[in-house]
Amino acid sequence: MERYKPINAKAPHFWHGADYNPDQWLQDSHILEEDLRLMKLANCNVMSVGIFAWAALEPEEGKFDFAWLDRVLDRMAENGVYAVLATPSGARPAWLSQKYPEVLRVGADRKRILHGNRHNHCYSSPVYREKVELINTKLAERYKEHPALLVWHVSNEYGGECHCALCQEKFRQWLQQRYQTLDALNQAWWTAFWSHTYTDWSQIESPAPHGESSIHGLNLDWKRFVTQQTIDFFQHECKPLAAITPDIPVTTNFMGTYPGLDYWKFAPAVDVVSWDNYPRWHGKEEDWRLASEVAFVHDLNRSLKNGKPFMLMESTPSMTNWMEVAKNKRPGMHLLSSIQAVAHGADTVQYFQWRKGRGGVEKFHGAVVGHVGHEHTRVFRDVTQVGEVLKKLDPVLGATVHPEVAIVFDWENRWALEDACGFIREKKYEETCQRHYLPFWKRGIPVDIINEDSDFSRYRLLIAPMLYMVRKGVGERITEFVATGGTLVTTYLSGTVDENDLCFLGGFPGPLRKVLGIWVEENDALYDDEVNHVAMLPGNVLGLRAQYAVTELCDLIHLETAQAVAVYKEDFYTGRPAVTVNKYGAGEAYYIASRNEDRFLDDFYRSVIERIGLHPVVKGQLPPGVTAQMRTDGERDFVFLLNFTTEERRIDLLEEEFTDLLTQETTRGIVELPPYGLRILERAHGSLV
Ligand code: GLA
Ligand code: ZN
Repeated sequence: MERYKPINAKAPHFWHGADYNPDQWLQDSHILEEDLRLMKLANCNVMSVGIFAWAALEPEEGKFDFAWLDRVLDRMAENGVYAVLATPSGARPAWLSQKYPEVLRVGADRKRILHGNRHNHCYSSPVYREKVELINTKLAERYKEHPALLVWHVSNEYGGECHCALCQEKFRQWLQQRYQTLDALNQAWWTAFWSHTYTDWSQIESPAPHGESSIHGLNLDWKRFVTQQTIDFFQHECKPLAAITPDIPVTTNFMGTYPGLDYWKFAPAVDVVSWDNYPRWHGKEEDWRLASEVAFVHDLNRSLKNGKPFMLMESTPSMTNWMEVAKNKRPGMHLLSSIQAVAHGADTVQYFQWRKGRGGVEKFHGAVVGHVGHEHTRVFRDVTQVGEVLKKLDPVLGATVHPEVAIVFDWENRWALEDACGFIREKKYEETCQRHYLPFWKRGIPVDIINEDSDFSRYRLLIAPMLYMVRKGVGERITEFVATGGTLVTTYLSGTVDENDLCFLGGFPGPLRKVLGIWVEENDALYDDEVNHVAMLPGNVLGLRAQYAVTELCDLIHLETAQAVAVYKEDFYTGRPAVTVNKYGAGEAYYIASRNEDRFLDDFYRSVIERIGLHPVVKGQLPPGVTAQMRTDGERDFVFLLNFTTEERRIDLLEEEFTDLLTQETTRGIVELPPYGLRILERAHGSLV
């Protein structure tokens, strides 16, 4: 197992810092020096600079002012603070929108927006592309040798879509390339439906609330196109950067499970994945449950590049201003949630934001430095503590994990599933994937979050909840995975449509029918207040006995080569199979036909884990609300014990011997974790081989 190289060899340590907007403080020359003093005090070694600074960099068209940024970067370098340097396209100066209205985005309602806010430019506009290329070139030329420069932070949180005439034309070109002929497109989109056959490419328009929304193939391809056009824009931004600073890695900050972009397509275009994490700690959901959902997204970001460590580009040091309730992090949570990212593969802990501005919509957003302006605050102390801990984690840098378990979380599947009319309105795909993740988080078993195109052969257990869309070749690869000894778990609604969102003919679950050994004849749906039950059959292979509640979705299936593990208890399908297993080649394939309560998933996976002998990170049992995660370089394992409850928790590490990375003490037997407490332990590489 390899250790990944540092993101930039100039700074082979954990990076700790924040979005820094000195361009908001140019009127006050003392602020920069005061910030540098505070950055050192807070153990911050990297700042993300210039993210929304276009108006300060190019106050008039073609008139550039880099003097202020020179000073900021020079002073940072002189003080040992590095820069994640941004390109400013996330927001633009007023003169640009005014002179070139084509840069302003057009909504699905075909209305062009007015100037304002941010993240709202057209991805196709030649003028915007030209202006962005120019400023990016200037930045790269000016700072290519700058000692502070570590990484390019390209734009900010790309998102949304533009329906202007330029984008429509690009969409049609993209479709022409994809389908070659209108006949092929009409077939793929099933346009004979409601007489929607296209007879000329120019008739095709993006989906609109007052226009077309009933052609699923169109909806799906539009989303694919938006991803493609966004990546194309990103790559356009990167061209001058790659030419002038070929050794400086590029990233752009992703937004977790943001529905609008397929990050599986985007990830290969960045050198290092980074993402912005804003969980609602201490909210309606218990912190430990939320922690497992956040863990899922961290794992996704690590998996996007096959285990390569990622950057936690943004998180809040205290509260997040745009939430319904902007609650502060309770004592302990800041360190815990920061180290959680590290436990799942982050090589940086960064915040939005360094200093609160005096005005604007984000003036109350959590920041390292508040309006009071000094370091004597709880938040500042919390941040300083994270920096102290990160300084001790050099051995963890670049280490990763190669889990035995993978859960498929596939954007195209999600788009098709959520667009489907039928079953139930809210499909809850993301929530379902996260519910299947929880039993592993609880037991401290690492998981990769992959998509349909990933290589399955590296895993022993493949979980693909609601695998509604099965793209070409995927059924064969899943079948091969099971035939060669893998264990597959999938659920209701799987194997329903192909990559064009066209239903499989000849019996569901389509290309998964053989490996699962079942035929799904009907899909039933229950109202919110309705419940069915499944009962485990005596002597079932999983050794389970209980009954479990079923809500929302129930597939009615027939056994072909599979055997029943559980059956429905109620309604006209009483006694029909509800959970099945099919031995196929050297492996096994499970089908969970209904949406069962969490207690079922917990028992089911406990049994599967035992049956195939998956390895948890630590041998001792984990108490409720505590997880164990690990990273390894193949020689040493770094084990993170994280307590997401407000109570003290004890874990028995049994006979294993560890060194505490923070205190250097030898640790074995019982360890105590205070409320929201954590331990970071090192041992010789062992249990997860
Ligand atoms: C996003 C943006 C930041 C900031 C934060 C606030 O992540 O990238 O610029 O607005 O949200 O939470
Ligand atoms: Zn456009």
